[in-house]
Amino acid sequence: PPTVKSLFKLISNPPLCVNNLHGWVKSVRLLKKVAFIDLQDGTTSKPIKLVIPREANDCLKQLRTGQSLHIKKANWKQTPSREQSFELEALPQSVRIIGDVPDTYPLQKKYHSLSFLRSLPTLKHRSNYLGALLRFRSHVENSFASFFESQDFTKVSPPILTSSDCEGAGELFRVESNSKIASKELYFGKPTYLTVSTQLHLEIMAMALSRCWTLSPSFRAEESDTNRHLAEFWMLEAELCFIDDVRKLSKFTESMLKYVIRSCLQNKDSLLPAMVPQENTESLDNIAQRWEAMLLKEWPILSYTETIKLLQERHKKVAFKFPPSWGNALQTEHEKWLADSYNSPVFVVDYPRECKAFYMKQNNDDTVACFDLLVPQMGEIIGGSIREDDYERILQEMERRKMNTKDLEWYTSLRKQGSAPHGGFGLGLERFVSWMFGSQNVRDAIPFHRSADGVID
Ligand code: 4AD
Ligand code: MG
Repeated sequence: PPTVKSLFKLISNPPLCVNNLHGWVKSVRLLKKVAFIDLQDGTTSKPIKLVIPREANDCLKQLRTGQSLHIKKANWKQTPSREQSFELEALPQSVRIIGDVPDTYPLQKKYHSLSFLRSLPTLKHRSNYLGALLRFRSHVENSFASFFESQDFTKVSPPILTSSDCEGAGELFRVESNSKIASKELYFGKPTYLTVSTQLHLEIMAMALSRCWTLSPSFRAEESDTNRHLAEFWMLEAELCFIDDVRKLSKFTESMLKYVIRSCLQNKDSLLPAMVPQENTESLDNIAQRWEAMLLKEWPILSYTETIKLLQERHKKVAFKFPPSWGNALQTEHEKWLADSYNSPVFVVDYPRECKAFYMKQNNDDTVACFDLLVPQMGEIIGGSIREDDYERILQEMERRKMNTKDLEWYTSLRKQGSAPHGGFGLGLERFVSWMFGSQNVRDAIPFHRSADGVID
């Protein structure tokens, strides 16, 4: 059957009639002689207009928002003077209700707030705004894929079950098994976790492919209950060989994001929703302008040390909750202020090694060759680094951190097998999508989020 999206593409060369149209009633208006139905099927943000001349005792009175319909046959009618330049005209006998809705069906043709939609985890995706957000996310994913294809990257599928904690932050979900051949806690003799990042496995594959990437689920037993943290999220990770300069790596991610932003801008009419929820602070026009402005700018790169100085200057005028000081991780309030003050995404490079994970390459001082990309409103969306590619040095660092070097021998020993300088990064897909879309909560950028209030099993 044709999709609603495919019908809009037929406008310049319309058929005489359309057979077997399916969709859901967005709204229905019954007049004495005629009924108007807006039919949507989620393939595009626009519903299609159906006109049905009424007959005595027709069953159109039963039509209601939310029902699924089958329209056996509809004639195409040009309506150049109207908002939609064509309509489909069907006879009442052609219209069949496939699935009915109860009187209490909650989504109606009126404004629904985001908080109301979030309270409907199985129906919310049918709303204009959250439906558009799902389509936007899909476009973004495809656009990343085509960028990586254009740069000779291979897409890989790293494991989700792992026995290591890549980030060393201890935010692991441990997996128990019911297997008869393994104990509950140890699967084949090892503890098993859901991955927090696929980086370690990507590094191995990069040594074979030079450039690889993945979009994989990541799991973190986060204690932070904020608009930026999810327990299950999707991370886009890439790993590149023969790179040893963190500023070049940062610029590479800038070109990647600009590629995706450009593609969003080119398709903005179909990607952006018709209107934004009242809870959002940004208007539709603003969103597109913000994308455009980002393409015109070079995104600044600051060192962590410079950043701390700027934050301390600011702190003298308007105090942060957490005073910035060299050696401490940046707080979200610091990250947001910095990016807001530049009104641009900002790279911060060379953090103190104590703030970051064990695998990062050390600079000549106490800092490591890493970067975070901070964006206005949201804060960090990417974390990445040059990796330590020398066996002795990575072992030393692990010992200094009192890590068990045996556990990661499979990973560190790569440094003895044709080691090469390499680096990579991870981007939180929901953070990127919600920030781009102007929705300030990552929970709306993932179809089902797991938390105490909104859980769906
Ligand atoms: O900065 P993170 O922890 O970096 C890593 O895991 C690296 N191993 C990635 C790599 O170099 N391959 O996480 C990367 C990004 C963050 O910048 C953030 O956007 C996102 O993942 N992220 C989260 N997104 C939603 N909810 C959470 N709980 C997140 N934790 C991290
Ligand atoms: Mg990080």
